[in-house]
Amino acid sequence: MTSAAPTVHLMTPRLILRELTEEDLPSLSTLLQDEQTMHAYEGAFSNDMVHAWFCRMLERYDSDGYGLWAAINRDTGVMIGQCGLTRQTILDRDVIEVGYLFHHAHWHQGFAVEAASACRDYAFHHVNEHKVWAQVRDTNIASMNVAIRLGMTVRGRFVKHYRGVDMPHLAFAINNPRFTQNA
Ligand SMILES: CC(C)(COP(=O)(O)OP(=O)(O)OC[C@H]1O[C@@H](n2cnc3c(N)ncnc32)[C@H](O)[C@@H]1OP(=O)(O)O)[C@@H](O)C(=O)NCCC(=O)NCCS
Repeated sequence: MTSAAPTVHLMTPRLILRELTEEDLPSLSTLLQDEQTMHAYEGAFSNDMVHAWFCRMLERYDSDGYGLWAAINRDTGVMIGQCGLTRQTILDRDVIEVGYLFHHAHWHQGFAVEAASACRDYAFHHVNEHKVWAQVRDTNIASMNVAIRLGMTVRGRFVKHYRGVDMPHLAFAINNPRFTQNA
């Protein structure tokens, strides 16, 4: 039996952003089980955590029409990270967040900003959101730089409880220029 081609949502000059499939599980494990890549998430995921993450993404595709997608290098066909949109509760509001996570071997080449900019614009033009958010741990300078390069500014602070740790976060956002009522 041949599996259906995964749904492609976005193409950028160097990347394809498409839905994850079961065939991506080895690449997803390489990404989520790499200590350096997962430093901001308190370290590498276990096999069970990778599987739960994958299932959660499939649920999001189904319920919302978007989620964190696989970021595929168009030159090599290799999955080098994840980027996409997820619904989150930030500062007690139900919002849309752009998320980005690339294997450390592919940092410092502009892939995260390239992918996340396309996702930001997708949220503005196809989901018609008034704002797009990014929640960033206050120790994660690289991620803050991505948010700033997306045109985001800090809208608040909060503490997230994750993997048994209190993690202070900054809430970044950018207003959709198509709407005037952006307060
Ligand atoms: C957050 C994360 C994606 C940022 O990665 P990054 O490599 O710093 O960001 P980019 O891919 O946009 O690359 C930007 C850098 O590439 C450089 N660059 C090189 N070639 C480039 C090009 N062609 N276009 C744009 N920038 C380029 C930029 O100058 C910039 O340099 P800097 O690293 O000195 O700031 C990465 O650190 C990561 O995956 N971390 C783990 C997961 C994580 O923390 N996710 C965020 C959770 S909130």
